[in-house]
Amino acid sequence: MSPNESRNQTLAARDLRHLWHPCTQMHDHAGAVPLLPIVRGEGPWLVDADGRRYLDGISSWWTNLFGHANPRIGAALKEQLDTLEHVIFAGFTHEPAIELAERLAAITPAGLERVFLADNGSAAIEVALKMSFHYWLNQGRGQKTRFIALSGSYHGETLGALSVSDVALYRKTYAPLLLTPILAPSPDAYEAEAGESAEAYAARRLGDLRALLEQHAHETCAVIVEPLVQCAGGMRTYHPSYLTGLRALCDEFGVHFIADEIAVGFGRTGTLFACEQAGVSPDFMCLSKGLTGGFLPLSAVLTTEPVYEAFYAEYNAGKAFLHSHSYTGNPLACRAALATLDIFRDEPVLERNRVLAAQLARRLAPLREHAHVADVRQTGMIAAVELVRDKATRAPYPSEERRGLRVYLHGLEHGALLRPLGNVVYFMPPYVVSTDELDHLVDVAIAGIERAIAQP
Ligand SMILES: Cc1ncc(COP(=O)(O)O)c(C=O)c1O
Repeated sequence: MSPNESRNQTLAARDLRHLWHPCTQMHDHAGAVPLLPIVRGEGPWLVDADGRRYLDGISSWWTNLFGHANPRIGAALKEQLDTLEHVIFAGFTHEPAIELAERLAAITPAGLERVFLADNGSAAIEVALKMSFHYWLNQGRGQKTRFIALSGSYHGETLGALSVSDVALYRKTYAPLLLTPILAPSPDAYEAEAGESAEAYAARRLGDLRALLEQHAHETCAVIVEPLVQCAGGMRTYHPSYLTGLRALCDEFGVHFIADEIAVGFGRTGTLFACEQAGVSPDFMCLSKGLTGGFLPLSAVLTTEPVYEAFYAEYNAGKAFLHSHSYTGNPLACRAALATLDIFRDEPVLERNRVLAAQLARRLAPLREHAHVADVRQTGMIAAVELVRDKATRAPYPSEERRGLRVYLHGLEHGALLRPLGNVVYFMPPYVVSTDELDHLVDVAIAGIERAIAQP
């Protein structure tokens, strides 16, 4: 360490000597984009090695619900650490997993009684896809091998999850390795005709889905969707009636409905689970991210008794579901999840979020008039501002201009972690953010937007 080097610089240099980060062109860190070593978290704040503080406006990739280093979740983990850190989950079980399954079955939509654990969101998607396919195989319907996904969807980046994703940035390069999904046009309300309501647009898109099912249901295992908000695809939102219609179509055509609530679950959209707003129960529900309050990797796939029954047979029938990860059902992660559910049980989380969401809506509303804003949209504790080069035509800024990155860098300079998705500046803060902190986040974002569009 040279005498003039800050602790941030020293740690970043050590990191860059060996580490390779996700979702990153590492070359960026040789130039204008800092790599920030975080040494501590306090509620919604992150503190770097030089003592600078950043308000975590995106809940650290949408995982953190109740603040960093949350004492209640931390205390549960400390106790679990002294009791049982891990045990093989085949042939063995433990109370944290048992209680977690009981409680998830109780709080998720009706009919989801069976819980399969995995250790991250993409793994949950792999489980749901394989389980759906295998269900049909066990029913003598082995010709069902395909999946319907929505345009603009994102379900993770392992090969199966990426196969049912449609965000070019992640998919394009690896396309030769992937399964080919059947893409149904998204009900994304941003794409509605002028004067067409989100509900009318959703109905139109259900018509497209019906046409696809008429053609492909015989070879289709499931339709997979992100309920209400397509997050990585740009925080695009759609009307709940699409989910109601989707449930009906899946029943009519005999295909499964997979709800990927990995990003939208646990209160993000205003209800505990997004599917509740449409009053539907999917055949599979995938959960992760907020499941442990952002503490540890864990995921769960919930499904129905009939799906479970299709696998339940004498050993030599060869019907067992095979998908195993070494850390399946890790007791520490389950314990963090239980502590997270305790907070939902004991505190008025959704009520508090309604107040914060209303504040966010109020503060962002004036941006609708902005000459370079095409859309301000919000579903509960997810809000997004879509920047465009031309408001009249909605022509986007070319991605090479990296306008979103300018907002990101402005945020870091001013104590906020905002991480736009291309030209979409979004807010997905931890639920423990105060009204002043939320104002700070919006103030920094607005100033960042002005700066990002002012430069050529
Ligand atoms: C809707 C959705 N599904 C799946 C995933 C994948 O989860 P993970 O990053 O834990 O693999 C994500 C991650 O952002 C997501 O937003």
